Amino acid sequence: MPQTLRLVAANAVSLAAGDRLHLLASPAPELGPCLTAADGRLPRLTAGTRLTPVAGGPQLLAVGVFSRPGQADAPAGRVVVAKALADGKLAAGNCDCQVEKTGLALAWITLSDKGSQGLRLDAAGPAIAETCAAALPIALAQGHIIPDEPRELTALLVDLAITQGFDLVVTTGGTGLSPRDTTPEATLAAIEKRLPGFEAAMLAASLAKTRHAMLSRAVAGTLGQAIIVNVPGSPKAVRETLAAILPAIPHGLDKLRGDPADCAQA
Ligand code: MTE
Repeated sequence: MPQTLRLVAANAVSLAAGDRLHLLASPAPELGPCLTAADGRLPRLTAGTRLTPVAGGPQLLAVGVFSRPGQADAPAGRVVVAKALADGKLAAGNCDCQVEKTGLALAWITLSDKGSQGLRLDAAGPAIAETCAAALPIALAQGHIIPDEPRELTALLVDLAITQGFDLVVTTGGTGLSPRDTTPEATLAAIEKRLPGFEAAMLAASLAKTRHAMLSRAVAGTLGQAIIVNVPGSPKAVRETLAAILPAIPHGLDKLRGDPADCAQA
């Protein structure tokens, strides 16, 4: 059942498809468009949530969340970054919106010192987005390229899984033996439940392709309501490893969210 929330704007807002707007998740329309509860509590808006104005107007997709510090004239609060999915106008005043999360929000992270400095083209990150979209109903795919700095990766994983509410986070690169390869350690510092079955499935599929697969120390696990997976750092390795685990992702996410149903034999 979709929930409803109220979008309140002091002035009409014209949007072109792809435009982003910041929506304050508290009643302060004098500071900009804001979201309030139409009835009861404001639902938590995570990345990939779709807002559909009931009376017509462009659909909005939540692509991120951040917190705004308070100032003398404005309280601190949560801000939802929303992307317009079509051209249109948000009318001034109150606009009730249906809130629905239909697909999955995917974040990919490429670990590459050179890539993060713009010294190398990244093909592995986009290969994650492409491979996942071919197998899963991806509503939002967001990419990051960061250096092989473990603390930066751990912090980003926590932000994406806990604050932004992404469903699936896939890292690529940094799983091997080179001095700067620390993706597994940074991931282990973030995850709550390890998924050794995912790791074994990726290794088995990879060994069938190359004996060098045994050099990857890729880790998988859960954090909050997200599944986090490391894969090695090439488009070929991305495709080979993800093929082994993507079929289990929807059922895994259902179970992570507390689905009480008995597991069907599959
Ligand atoms: N796994 C698959 N499926 N395909 C590959 O090409 N490359 C291996 C291994 N795992 C590979 C693979 C190689 S050569 C290395 S060095 C390790 O992953 C670590 O890669 P990374 O440091 O880029 O993560």
